Amino acid sequence: MPLVTIVGGQWGDEGKGKIVDMLAQKADVVARFAGGANAGHTVINPLGTFKMHLIPSGIFYPNVVCVMGNGMAIDPKKTIEEISFLREKHINVDNRLFISDKAHLIMPYHFILDKLEEERRGGDLIGTTCKGIGPAYVDKVARRGIRAGDLLNRRNLLSKLRPVVDYKNELFTKLYDAASISVDEIYEQCCHYSEILAPFIKETSSLLQEAQERGALIILEGAQGTLLDIDFGTYPYVTSSSPTAWGACSGLGISPMKIDRILGIFKAYTTRVGKGPMPTELNDEVGEAIREKGHEYGTTTGRPRRCGWFDSVAGRFSVHLNGITDVAFTRLDVLDLMPHIKICTGYNLDGKVINQFPCDINEQERCTPILEEMDGWQTCTNDVRHFDNLPPAAKAYVKRIEELIDCPISVISVGAKREQSIEIRPIL
Ligand code: IMP
Repeated sequence: MPLVTIVGGQWGDEGKGKIVDMLAQKADVVARFAGGANAGHTVINPLGTFKMHLIPSGIFYPNVVCVMGNGMAIDPKKTIEEISFLREKHINVDNRLFISDKAHLIMPYHFILDKLEEERRGGDLIGTTCKGIGPAYVDKVARRGIRAGDLLNRRNLLSKLRPVVDYKNELFTKLYDAASISVDEIYEQCCHYSEILAPFIKETSSLLQEAQERGALIILEGAQGTLLDIDFGTYPYVTSSSPTAWGACSGLGISPMKIDRILGIFKAYTTRVGKGPMPTELNDEVGEAIREKGHEYGTTTGRPRRCGWFDSVAGRFSVHLNGITDVAFTRLDVLDLMPHIKICTGYNLDGKVINQFPCDINEQERCTPILEEMDGWQTCTNDVRHFDNLPPAAKAYVKRIEELIDCPISVISVGAKREQSIEIRPIL
């Protein structure tokens, strides 16, 4: 039975939630491996429209087991809110939602630090989602993080929290001239989280191993996108985790040898939220038209997303880096009315043509796109369900992208609803 990893190929917001929801109907387990409530996965299904931030998108199928992996940075308050919201919608989460005991928790001081650090950067901010993600991963690496498993032992929790909160208070009062926080209040909050979340917390890598041994069909659900990866993204304008195929292995405790397929999700154009280089950005009425037609506003922060043409240099980089075996190409319908569509096929860097995504941030910022123009199809594709029924110009666009990014497109999404999809080759 296949084990499929799903990763964002661009700067996040590629429509991973919809594709995971679509594939999850055949799955036994959906396990999320990175990030936290900085992500926003929109799922539209017969039960309604759901904007989930933490709980895996497989939760809408009653037989699917969902795992929040050790690679995530989990906001316990938000998790409780999502659990309550799902229960209100009569979606059962008991005995099928599991949180890794090794997942790090976002604590109240992480939110404060995220804001203070952004303010301190002044004009040179990263444009984080202010969900405490960076500071929580800093604490993980600095070995002072509080993990989900710590909620299961309250006495030890207080002795773990005290030195961390003392340290944060030194930072708040001495470096940032900000108010200090109370360890007792945080401990009380944690006790409340513990009461609600304890039944969900367990060792999840062995759960996943057992599922593999049983021959279960497992989807590893990524968040964010490859170009936001802490190592290979447009550093420092990145998130603080590895939203990539290798992040799935470390973020869930799965051997790379077990992964059968890596599905990369790419939007038919490019978007980015927050600061950082984006060579194909369109600061004109075409960019505005894409933003409005695609409702390109952040699910988590509501910020308008920067929009631009498809960047095949960045796309090919992502395909090769992750070892993507199949692509799901989303939001093709957003381009339906465009008379002409452009694709970036290379960059001009200081007068030289390059076909590789440069490593250096200053070089990335100096890249201007070399654009190839194709005819638009100017026909609505929302109701198309077979590749052969797409307008010829849309087929030509898809084929050209496949060629440029060096990977077959196996699924095309032509609308937000589950059924608005064209499956060219089965993924599962
Ligand atoms: P952080 O992950 O909140 O620290 O934000 C770091 C950068 O990643 C910022 O540019 C965010 O806008 C971006 N980012 C984080 N999560 C997402 C996401 O789910 N979609 C798109 N961009 C994201």
